Order: sequence, then structure tokens, then C-alpha cells
Amino acid sequence: MKITVIGLGYLGATHAVAMAELGHEVIGIEPDDKKRSALESGKLPFFEPGLDKALVDVIEKGRITFKADHDENSKNAELHFICVGTPQKQGSNAADTKYLFAAIESLAPYLSEDAVVVGKSTVPVGTAAELKKALSEKTDFDPKLAWNPEFLREGTALEDSLRPDRIVIGTEDSFAEAKIREVYKPITDAEETPVLITDIPTAELVKAAANSFLATKISFINAMAEIAEVSGADTVKLAEAIGMDDRIGKLFLRNGIGFGGGCLPKDIRGLMARAEELGVGHAVGFLEEVDQINLRRRKRVVELAQAELGELKNKKIAILGATFKPDSDDLRDSPALDIALELERLGAIVFVHDPVAVPHLKENQKTLNADENLETVLEDAELTILGTEWRQYKNLDPSKLSVANKTIIDGRNVLDRNAWEAAGWKMIALGRG
Ligand code: UDX
Repeated sequence: MKITVIGLGYLGATHAVAMAELGHEVIGIEPDDKKRSALESGKLPFFEPGLDKALVDVIEKGRITFKADHDENSKNAELHFICVGTPQKQGSNAADTKYLFAAIESLAPYLSEDAVVVGKSTVPVGTAAELKKALSEKTDFDPKLAWNPEFLREGTALEDSLRPDRIVIGTEDSFAEAKIREVYKPITDAEETPVLITDIPTAELVKAAANSFLATKISFINAMAEIAEVSGADTVKLAEAIGMDDRIGKLFLRNGIGFGGGCLPKDIRGLMARAEELGVGHAVGFLEEVDQINLRRRKRVVELAQAELGELKNKKIAILGATFKPDSDDLRDSPALDIALELERLGAIVFVHDPVAVPHLKENQKTLNADENLETVLEDAELTILGTEWRQYKNLDPSKLSVANKTIIDGRNVLDRNAWEAAGWKMIALGRG
């Protein structure tokens, strides 16, 4: 099928490549020249394992082209996927939907009557109805608009797109449903992926609800960590024990410095803001606590550093990992980076290592000493903090590391305590009293 994918950030670039991999003819629309020309030359503007190779593959097969804006070619597309960002508004919890309206506005002149606009971005429930209204004002027919949320995770984005747990399609229009089913047919045929048809508001709410649930699970175990720390209990064992109950499940119960990234923090805040607007803010009041528990974990690491070193001024601290999770170069709302910046604000000399984010840190966080050389980062450190559980940190041999003071805070509970203690390190692990 011929499709357009509008907005080529994490979500859009992955979706565009995935659709081209399935054999569709994809036009990627991205007004940002830097992003677009990188993609055109087969390079991803961000780090995502496997997606780079797939991008080159679909370019070579001639299945994808990139444009700054729509042109006559867009008129032949059967589906237009809207994948633009919905960031948190400055000074508010609400999601900013302006890029969606801009996308609709530039698409309208090229939208044909039998094409379907498919929203994939995470939006406040009710947005699709407003978008449809805006689109109707610019077309002389009744435009078709459906919602099809995307659940991909950074680090496994392509795999999640090609082999999703489920496909949710929000539409009450049978033509739109058939077209969207057709585009995903190679996936549903091969993987027997369940397809869930819902009304549009439900499809809009699914994503916010799923991310809020995941965030709540993480904050739940981090709340238990606060209790464990003052009672001598071990949160890692606790999570294992409760996770064995199938009704609870063991995933997303890893305690540590908490969640970050471009989705979970903004989505819980967006849901709170939207519920408030709808007059039912109390229904998700608990998400405020979910947010606070999460932020308290970052503070806890700073307190532990102070308890360990006393006055932080001029003390060298090594931070291992800056991104919000491994296998991603995303620094948005990263707990590890937040902790590094707070320690620096308190006067510490902070050195940061990260397998992929150092060039970005050098450019945008000049005061932090970001370095690709782990030895330089660790040398003379009076405290080491593991902030992101990159595989290479899990595999470190503690007996081979040279620091001024062998104390490490394991912010992700991934290091082998016995091995580190046997090598002479003092290990402080979150939630393990
Ligand atoms: C999330 C959702 O998982 C995905 O479905 C959605 O499409 C986008 O948002 P992502 O932001 O890529 O994906 O990361 P995810 O793997 O969910 O992790 C989010 C954060 O939670 C990370 O900072 C991670 O370190 C943290 N986390 C995750 C924990 O602290 N503990 C856990 O047990 C799991």
C-alpha cells in the first residue's frame, strides 16, 4: 500500500521503516532538515539497535522516500499515519498537541476522499474529535480519521513494531478499519497478533492508561524500597516473591532510581491534566504520588552520596550511564542525568561515562565531564554511581577498576553484590536495607 508517515522522530521513523519492511511504499514527511537528510543518507538521527540496518535495507529496495512536506504524491496515499510528538507543555502537566494540528493543516490539501488519517501519537483523550473537526473545515468531504496507538519501547523499537503484543484500532468506520487491517496484514498473518477494534476515545486512552499502569508498577516497588530501606528488607527478593503471583507478574518491578524517558513521566502528567479538564482529576490523583515516589528515588541517591562523602564540594563522583535506559541514547528526563546534574549543583566534580550519549553530553551539558574512557571517569573517584544498567557495566570486573575510594551506589540493582564486596568494594544498593 502507498502510505505517508508524518513526523519522523522515534515513533515515526520506526513506524516508517517497519511499514517499508512489510513491503509498503512509504513517504516519510519530516520538516526538520537535519533529521530528514540523515534519514535520506541511511543514518538514524538517534540510536536504536537494528533500526539503522533496516533503514538502509528499505532505502536500497526503493520502498521509502523522504520529503519536507506533502506534494502531489501524497494524494495517492491510502493511509496517512500521524506520528508527531506531543511533548509536555512548558509550565503545565498537559500534553502539547500543536504539532498534531499543524500536521493536519498541511495534510488537508493533499487528502483524498478515500484516504484514512491514522493517529499514532499519544494524545489527551478527545483530541481526535478536535482534529477531525479541524480537518473537516479544510476539506469539502467527510474526512476519515482513526486512532491506532503505538506501544513500542526504545531499545527494541523495530521488534516491537513488527511483532507487537496487540494492535488497537479506534474507529467506527468499516472502510477505515479494513484499510488499517490491510496495512498490518503481513504482521497479523505471520504472528497471529490480536487486533482490538474500539471506539476512538478508548483507543486514545489505551496508551495513556498502559503507560500510567507501568509507571504505577515501578513506583509501587520503589515505594516498597523506601520501607525496605528502614526495615532491613530486600526489595529485589520482595519483587521476586510478589511477581511469582501471575496476577501481579514479575515485569516492571525492578526498583532503583526510577523511570524516565520521553513517555512515562509525560504520559502520567498528561493523563492527570486531561482528567482534571474533564472534571475527574480525583480519579487519577494517585498518579501525583506515582510521580513523587519516582522523583524521591533520585533525591535518595543524592542523600546517600552526601551521607557517604559529607560535603560534596570538590569531591569527584563517577556516574556510569546517563541515558534513561540502556540501548537508547535518549536523555529526556533521565534519572541518571538528573542525579549527575544535582550532584554537580551541590559542588561535586562529576564525571559521566555512557556508551552512546557522550557526544551529546559534550555538546549540551558542557559542565559535566562526559568521557568515553571509563578509566578516566573512574580515576580518583571518591564515589561511583551506576545510573543506567548498560550490559557493559553489569560485566565489569570490580577487581580491575582503579578509583580513590571503592564505594559504589548501584542505582539499578544489577551488580553482583558478592563479587563487588569480594573485590573490596562497599556496595550501597537501593531498597536493600
Ligand atoms: C515506554 C513503554 O514501555 C512503551 O510501551 C511506550 O510505547 C513508550 O513508553 P520506553 O519509554 O521506551 O517505553 O521505556 P520502558 O522500557 O517502558 O522504561 C521506562 C523507564 O522505566 C526507564 O527509565 C526504565 O529504566 C524504568 N524502569 C522500567 C524501571 O525503573 N523499572 C522497571 O522495572 C522497568
